[in-house]
Amino acid sequence: MLAKQLLFLSSLIPLLQAQETVLGVYIFHRHGDRTTKNWPPTSLTDLGYYQVFEAGNFYRNRYIDANASSQIFGISPDLVQNSQLNVQAPVDTVLQNSAAGFLQGLYPPVGATLGTQKLANGTSVEAPLGGFQLIPVNAVASASSGANSENSQWLQGQSGCNNAIISSNNYFFSQEYLTELNKTMGFYHSVEPVINGTFSLAQDNFKNAYLIYDLVHVSMIHNASIPSDNLLTPETVFQLQTLADNHEFNLAYNASEPIRAIAGSTLAAQIVQQLNATITGKSTSQIGIQFGAYNSFLSFFGLAQLPAVSVNFTGIVDYASSMTFELVTNATVTNTSYPSDDDISVRFLFSNGTSAEHPLTAYPLFGQSETVIPWNTFVDQMNAFAVGNQADWCSQCGNSTGVCASTTSTSTGSSTSPTSSTSSSGGISKAVAGVIGAMVTLAVILGAEALILLLAGLRVVSKKRFGNRASPESASVVAKA
Ligand SMILES: *[C@@H]1O[C@H](CO)[C@@H](O)[C@H](O)[C@H]1NC(C)=O
Ligand SMILES: *[C@@H]1O[C@H](CO)[C@@H](O)[C@H](O)[C@H]1NC(C)=O
Ligand SMILES: *[C@@H]1O[C@H](CO)[C@@H](O)[C@H](O)[C@H]1NC(C)=O
Ligand SMILES: *[C@@H]1O[C@H](CO)[C@@H](O)[C@H](O)[C@H]1NC(C)=O
Ligand SMILES: *[C@@H]1O[C@H](CO)[C@@H](O)[C@H](O)[C@H]1NC(C)=O
Ligand SMILES: *[C@@H]1O[C@H](CO)[C@@H](O)[C@H](O)[C@H]1NC(C)=O
Ligand SMILES: *[C@@H]1O[C@H](CO)[C@@H](O)[C@H](O)[C@H]1NC(C)=O
Ligand SMILES: *[C@@H]1O[C@H](CO)[C@@H](O)[C@H](O)[C@H]1NC(C)=O
Ligand SMILES: *[C@@H]1O[C@H](CO)[C@@H](O)[C@H](O)[C@H]1NC(C)=O
Ligand SMILES: *[C@@H]1O[C@H](CO)[C@@H](O)[C@H](O)[C@H]1NC(C)=O
Ligand SMILES: *[C@@H]1O[C@H](CO)[C@@H](O)[C@H](O)[C@H]1NC(C)=O
Ligand SMILES: *[C@@H]1O[C@H](CO)[C@@H](O)[C@H](O)[C@H]1NC(C)=O
Repeated sequence: MLAKQLLFLSSLIPLLQAQETVLGVYIFHRHGDRTTKNWPPTSLTDLGYYQVFEAGNFYRNRYIDANASSQIFGISPDLVQNSQLNVQAPVDTVLQNSAAGFLQGLYPPVGATLGTQKLANGTSVEAPLGGFQLIPVNAVASASSGANSENSQWLQGQSGCNNAIISSNNYFFSQEYLTELNKTMGFYHSVEPVINGTFSLAQDNFKNAYLIYDLVHVSMIHNASIPSDNLLTPETVFQLQTLADNHEFNLAYNASEPIRAIAGSTLAAQIVQQLNATITGKSTSQIGIQFGAYNSFLSFFGLAQLPAVSVNFTGIVDYASSMTFELVTNATVTNTSYPSDDDISVRFLFSNGTSAEHPLTAYPLFGQSETVIPWNTFVDQMNAFAVGNQADWCSQCGNSTGVCASTTSTSTGSSTSPTSSTSSSGGISKAVAGVIGAMVTLAVILGAEALILLLAGLRVVSKKRFGNRASPESASVVAKA
């Protein structure tokens, strides 16, 4: 009898459960399939365009469409409201175009009915391309996206962070690296006939692990014929990939030298800022999207302790991968009642490849067991490694010239020792957060671009010098995608 009643009661529980509402999301996305890094200019391929377009469509069906499985509170379902979106991508054709392709899937053309506007004289004008919608990338969304939104653009990758560059370069002197370099000489030479059109024997080693893997990987997707491809057994390709994973993860993250993961630290700050803006604006700016490089994924994975969940998180993520932070609540949400911070949580999800084909799966962050964690906990954990303003960045990076000249008087981080940065890994300093001006922002962007161009230029003219330390990997440390 009692058992029956319990059974009856438990059958009611699902009905009593609150409906979960998504208040906003932050999506960090890798570009789609592209041509090889070895032969610039690198460009997004049609396959890559499809991958990001379909990912955009996947997210549309999850968060935006009137029938979406978890429609975001207050989101405009068909006609884009640009104030609701904050889309960022570095000035890089592969990433910019990936963002554009993704947005086409997120907000597709609306057709003649919705896509038509009426003029004063009564004439109707339909938007080109069947009601195609224009969505700016890198525009600051709206006032509600927070006082800090204008500084988000300088927070891209390592952007010339001195201590991070030193730390990454130190990898090439580490015992781990030297052992691997020695151990794999024979293996790399065994694939020389496959890659000898691009890499000389002297360049054909673990130092170029990523570029070699990239050449083989891209060629296997695009080249109808590859010299000596009989050497490319699944085991060999897997080993080339695993060695590249090892090389790139170590460049992106080292537990003893957190500054190496600056790309993940700045990303963490951007995520918190955007989600916080969603909350403070009561879901008027609900979606943050950023396209970025795989090293930002790896740096973030390391900082968020995801390798403890699975060693998979030490591997380079596939093209068009995405990680998504959902701001969710079980409290009632209406126009007039918005949940308090205590009722809001964050869910982390990751899709290894275009989300149209690879499941978007929830994983626990920060060594916790739950995949949904309270907002306040999330903020504390993220702020333990987030770097979200100019002064903090300058101090942790040990930069004291250029844009950092004015901020160093109060900082202690001018030492070039990468380890000195660990002592002051604070969160976002509120005092300075609001005062970073557009001039500063612009100066940093220009500085970072100049650096990238300089390294890219160096790379173009010195292809034969793969073997020395000013080689393309150091460029890819700064601008890898
Ligand atoms: C939502 O689903 C209904 C029923 O399946 C369908 O009639 C309607 O067209 C869909 N609306 C959108 C916007 O997809
Ligand atoms: C209405 O105004 C538009 C834009 O100025 C013009 O192109 C169009 O010819 C006008 N239509 C009429 C009927 O005057
Ligand atoms: C930081 O310092 C390094 C080394 O001095 C320099 O190359 C880089 O351009 C600086 N970055 C910025 C943003 O000033
Ligand atoms: C990680 O950092 C530690 C401390 O600086 C260093 O001893 C070690 O070699 C580094 N490992 C790698 C793979 O860079
Ligand atoms: C690797 O290191 C061992 C021991 O130091 C040395 O004998 C060997 O020649 C090295 N192999 C290569 C390929 O450099
Ligand atoms: C690459 O190696 C193959 C096989 O050893 C050889 O036939 C070919 O000429 C080499 N190509 C170049 C560009 O050196
Ligand atoms: C694949 O084709 C490209 C373009 O023709 C060429 O540059 C590249 O070397 C080829 N890949 C291999 C492994 O031969
Ligand atoms: C969120 O934004 C508000 C208003 O800008 C600010 O006061 C607050 O400190 C921010 N909270 C977090 C967790 O960043
Ligand atoms: C790790 O990757 C393997 C192979 O793709 C997969 O089978 C496994 O489920 C993954 N583990 C996690 C925790 O995602
Ligand atoms: C993603 O897939 C690649 C294989 O293509 C694998 O090496 C990597 O570990 C995977 N990452 C995750 C987080 O599952
Ligand atoms: C909402 O309730 C369901 C069922 O108890 C739970 O699985 C989910 O994690 C809750 N979501 C939040 C944001 O607390
Ligand atoms: C609540 O939002 C809906 C949809 O945006 C709108 O139609 C309605 O007028 C709003 N109600 C209030 C009280 O603001």
